[in-house]
Amino acid sequence: MRIAILGAGYVGLVSAACFAEFGTEVTLVDTDAGRISMLREGRMPIYEPGLEALVTDNVREGRLSFTQDLAAAMQGAEAVFLAVGTPTRRGDGHADLTYVFAAAEEVARTATKPLVLVTKSTVPVGTGREVKRRVQAVRPDLDIAVASNPEFLREGAAIGDFMRPDRVVIGVEDGEAGARAEAVLRRLYRPLFLIETPMVATRLETAEIIKYAANAFLAMKISFINEVADLCEAAGGDVHDVARGIGLDGRIGRKFLHAGPGYGGSCFPKDTLAFARSAQDFGTPLRLIETTIAVNDSRKMAMADRVIRACGGDVDGKVIAILGLTFKPETDDMRDAPSLEIIPRLVAAGAHIRAHDPEGMDAARRLLPATVEYTSGALNAAQGADAVVLLTEWNEYRNIAPTKLRNMMRGDLLLDLRNVYDPPAMREAGFTYHSIGRP
Ligand code: UDX
Repeated sequence: MRIAILGAGYVGLVSAACFAEFGTEVTLVDTDAGRISMLREGRMPIYEPGLEALVTDNVREGRLSFTQDLAAAMQGAEAVFLAVGTPTRRGDGHADLTYVFAAAEEVARTATKPLVLVTKSTVPVGTGREVKRRVQAVRPDLDIAVASNPEFLREGAAIGDFMRPDRVVIGVEDGEAGARAEAVLRRLYRPLFLIETPMVATRLETAEIIKYAANAFLAMKISFINEVADLCEAAGGDVHDVARGIGLDGRIGRKFLHAGPGYGGSCFPKDTLAFARSAQDFGTPLRLIETTIAVNDSRKMAMADRVIRACGGDVDGKVIAILGLTFKPETDDMRDAPSLEIIPRLVAAGAHIRAHDPEGMDAARRLLPATVEYTSGALNAAQGADAVVLLTEWNEYRNIAPTKLRNMMRGDLLLDLRNVYDPPAMREAGFTYHSIGRP
């Protein structure tokens, strides 16, 4: 089987490599010449564990190739996937569908035979219908079936998530075109169905809602536990035990109950906003999600204030070491990272920031105030610091020897915004230790 995927971004590239690994012949198309030549040279435009090896293997086996030429990529392809970006539209928070529609129309213009056009990009409900309308307008002569096949990949774990997903969601149009699309997608995902991965085959609209609802629910879980953490702090509870105590109830589940500085990344902030906006348009506001967004936005600022409070209400002239800049570990992605809110606030209050991140420093240099100093390791960041703030839970920070860290500093403040350290051990090492929602 042959397919083409449009968009060599995060989702497109991971999906292309994984489908190729399943034995499908995949051509990945992007309009960005630089990106295509980079991939052809075997260099990855993003950091994702295991991706480079998977890409290299499949290129060598002749199952994966890269091009700017859509027509060539579509030669013999039974399905074309859209994995282009759907960023937040400036001004109103809606998903910007310009790239999706442009790519769909381009595919329609280029098509020479009937095909299945699958949206993998995260799009609001109703987009599939609109894609159908547009491709039909461009090519009334051709039978192009439209399907939705959302992905649930986590950065840093994307390959595992693709190869062993909790479920595969396939949304198709009604009637014969839908049946044809479903058959093609079933064949494509056959290796997963052999390992008994559940499939949700449903209508286009439903699949589109599933994707947003999944992300919004997880974001809501995080905002929920973050608020409970605040209560724990005020009342003397321990949020870690609360999370365990409620999470062991199978109806609630233990995952995504880790209190922290607020969620970031390429999906949750963008998708919750777009979900809330599109629900408003349908006249059925999602008030829980609107509140989730507000709770998360205010949390990042609250974290900066908390650092300032811990420093005695004033950080002017203080040296603050920041460990971790990316929105989570195992990625170089800085999108909507709490560091982007917290660090500028501390800098504005007069702090000198010494920062470290294993993968995110290049991107951070372009996004953070110019006065931020970047160091070659976590211990170096702590050199002469009044306070150390752990913002991202990279493994190398978990494994730091507390006394070594303490000895680098001139102060004794450790703010662990990810609850990775053991409070008694940190106190024993001589720290004044603060964490999230723990006594
Ligand atoms: C998420 C979804 O998990 C994935 O299914 C979807 O396809 C894309 O969005 P990702 O953004 O890569 O994936 O990261 P994830 O691991 O889900 O973390 C998102 C954010 O939530 C991070 O900022 C993380 O630090 C935060 N988080 C997560 C918490 O604060 N607490 C938790 O318990 C879990």
